[in-house]
Amino acid sequence: MSQQKRRNKGPAKVTVVENQKGGVGKTTFCYHIPCYLVEQGYRVLAVDLDPQGNLSSRFLSRALRTNGYRSVHMFGNQPIAYEPLSTPIGVDLIYALDRDVELANVERMPLGEAVINFCQNLGGLLEEYDYIVIDTPPAHGNKMTAASVSSNFMFVPVELAAFAVTGVESVLETLAEMQNLVDDPIKITGVICNRMRKVKAHAEALAELQAAAGNLKILTTKVATNGAIDDALRDGVPVWKNRATGAQRESGKMMITLMEEIASLIGAKPLKAPARVTAKPKGVSTHA
Ligand SMILES: Nc1ncnc2c1ncn2[C@@H]1O[C@H](COP(=O)(O)OP(=O)(O)O)[C@@H](O)[C@H]1O
Ligand SMILES: [Mg+2]
Repeated sequence: MSQQKRRNKGPAKVTVVENQKGGVGKTTFCYHIPCYLVEQGYRVLAVDLDPQGNLSSRFLSRALRTNGYRSVHMFGNQPIAYEPLSTPIGVDLIYALDRDVELANVERMPLGEAVINFCQNLGGLLEEYDYIVIDTPPAHGNKMTAASVSSNFMFVPVELAAFAVTGVESVLETLAEMQNLVDDPIKITGVICNRMRKVKAHAEALAELQAAAGNLKILTTKVATNGAIDDALRDGVPVWKNRATGAQRESGKMMITLMEEIASLIGAKPLKAPARVTAKPKGVSTHA
């Protein structure tokens, strides 16, 4: 891309979650952040750029993802009527198929074209939303670059057990490579430590990450490994909605604390009293 472009300055703030590693929690956080922001009263759009469509499937079952507009269309230069899918949770969605071959093939486009088209199509949506949250595939390429270049905020989840430092370092290296595409700095807003357990190896991994991080912000909230997160994603609800077991309540509390930290970093103060259940009368199930 020869011409340098200013990044998104629209009303909607674009938040991207990325790490070239798979299985570190990108989709998990990309699901919870929009859910949380909607509860705070914001207009929120989630965009699924992963051709596996995991985020899309958390918001809407496959049968309901039939509308014409998918995330792959954001890389095209043909005007297509933009129709977001509404989801039961209140977040709008630009979805991917469960095995989205066309979205995977975006990697074959020239980089500049992919980035320009994506930014232009995204630009048309900025007036409609307060926050746009983008999930990315676990690979450096056109989609990750387009998301990074358009972002106002970026969160990088790392799994402490598995080479967290090298994960963050490779994100920083790829961001440095992308920097020539835009004139203002592409920065990591915060690193999210996921799947932390109270074991020596994880404490050491965290210390190593902190030492390597320099002025990189590592979020205070550390996310523990908790099966309640998987349960909630399977149920299609944020983890704080499931309150039947101690593990679910504990995980919900932790996720809310993380969301509050993220919200303060992206300037999202509550616009209305949260609709979420904060206390449950004894013996009453909150399951639908
Ligand atoms: N803290 C956690 N505790 C338990 N399971 C988790 C946790 N974080 C993520 N998972 C699960 O791990 C799997 C991979 O997470 P995911 O968010 O899909 O990673 P990514 O998008 O980076 O590939 C999912 O099944 C998810 O439910
Ligand atoms: Mg994912």
